[in-house]
Amino acid sequence: MITDQHDRLLIIDFGSQVTQLIARRLRELNVYCEIHPYQNVTAAFLEEFAPKAVIFSGGPDSVMREGSPRPPRQVYDLGVPILGICYGQQVMMQDLGGRVEAGEHATAEFGRAWVKPSDRRDDILKGWFMDGSGREQVWMSHGDHVADLAPEFEVLGTSPGAPFAITADRARHFYAVQFHPEVHHTPNGRTLYQNFVQLAGFSGDWTMDAYKDEAIRKIRDQVGDKKVICGLSGGVDSSVAAALLHEAIGDQLTCVFVDHGLLRLNEAEEVVTMFRDHMNLQVIHAQEQELFLGELDGVSDPETKRKIIGRLFIDVFQKYASEIEGAEFLAQGTLYPDVIESVSFSGGPSVTIKSHHNVGGLPEKMGLKLVEPLRELFKDEVRELGRELGLPDSFIGRHPFPGPGLAIRCPGEITREKLDILRKADAVYIDQIRKHGLYDEIWQAFVAILPVRTVGVMGDGRTYDFACALRAVTSVDGMTADYYPFSHDFLGETATRIINEVRGINRVTYDITSKPPGTIEWE
Ligand code: XMP
Repeated sequence: MITDQHDRLLIIDFGSQVTQLIARRLRELNVYCEIHPYQNVTAAFLEEFAPKAVIFSGGPDSVMREGSPRPPRQVYDLGVPILGICYGQQVMMQDLGGRVEAGEHATAEFGRAWVKPSDRRDDILKGWFMDGSGREQVWMSHGDHVADLAPEFEVLGTSPGAPFAITADRARHFYAVQFHPEVHHTPNGRTLYQNFVQLAGFSGDWTMDAYKDEAIRKIRDQVGDKKVICGLSGGVDSSVAAALLHEAIGDQLTCVFVDHGLLRLNEAEEVVTMFRDHMNLQVIHAQEQELFLGELDGVSDPETKRKIIGRLFIDVFQKYASEIEGAEFLAQGTLYPDVIESVSFSGGPSVTIKSHHNVGGLPEKMGLKLVEPLRELFKDEVRELGRELGLPDSFIGRHPFPGPGLAIRCPGEITREKLDILRKADAVYIDQIRKHGLYDEIWQAFVAILPVRTVGVMGDGRTYDFACALRAVTSVDGMTADYYPFSHDFLGETATRIINEVRGINRVTYDITSKPPGTIEWE
């Protein structure tokens, strides 16, 4: 367990694709919660975790199947409110004496549905059915359905396909719903979670302000008077981790910023100036442009480029880190979504841990212990913490930038000439986006320089220069993305500026590929 300071809510994960969204909705309500796969939730775990409320997630299995996922029986005896969602509703009904029927085509319901209230009122539905239509849009996704309610349960809401859409044992504050209140397509779902945590007596004590002090105390306890190394990339996660560590342990922290020569215009100076001069962190600026660009010379295969950069990054980081005497810890900006164990139906719980900052394997190799001060946080919480720590908004709201940098925005061979042109074009493009007030609407925007020269005319002369592609996408997590619908005026003005201001480019195109089938980066 992560915190003993706050009211805690336990989410038992039965394998739904959207379990993480439940946690995010709750964190937005300043409620501390953790997701644990059902296999790990034993009676002993419940006792130790001592939740103030429990949520059963949805899941792909059928409660009709022998051996399908269940919570321990003791969960019903904790005396705390429980909310069951979809599969979680069916589990609760079956465990408590109701009956579930297998889905047939006629009764299965997927997608948008409208729920109406029954004649019973309960605070769980405070703020629902208020817009005059007398109904609420919800998102259903279920095959099986409840056929008979468990004793003590009553119906609070129905939909045409779901007579038991919202059900409750009001005395025990057990609620069970057939739809997913956590998804976007249940527009008033947040209110339902808010009502639930209010009924459970949560005080909303999970704020980044309070968390900051707690995290600082924990870092001091863990690190003592030892030294810590932190890889600084200039991205949000490593910047916030570094600022937090600095506040906790001051000069015991040294950051290493690896400059591989594939950064954007003025980026290295900006990062180093901010952290070293404005925030007084000890920053080693590893100037290794020659090494990286030398080894990339003549390489055009995307995978080879990535492998070279990854290998050199580790070598370089290790070289600089080993010069910091007495360092015992390595800080990483690992976030909560990276450490949540996901339910695996092929065996035990599977652990997905990504290694950030391209220093995977280094802690073992160098005999360093890990400090991961952001392990409990979602991305939006990291941003909020960054603000609490005084990082400027312009830094916190930056678009993601990939570890291999401009190398994967320069298809074909990477040359210094192409990188210079790319940097300038990218700076004009981002300037345009900021000037038009679009930066925060876009998940990521950049220019790729194409390995092709085209013919143009400028003044009286003929040009034979590079073509470039502008990319801008909207996305929630980078896994899927849509291209951003710029106006033609914006695109026209931007193309004119790039061609006029950047020598070496005479043609500008706009990439309108979604992901999938495309990827966001060009390589
Ligand atoms: P793709 O191109 O796969 O990118 O659609 C999805 C997101 O991941 C970023 N990206 C990377 N980030 N190291 C990183 O730190 C990498 O090697 C890497 N490759 C892609 C990309 O910028 C986008 O935000």
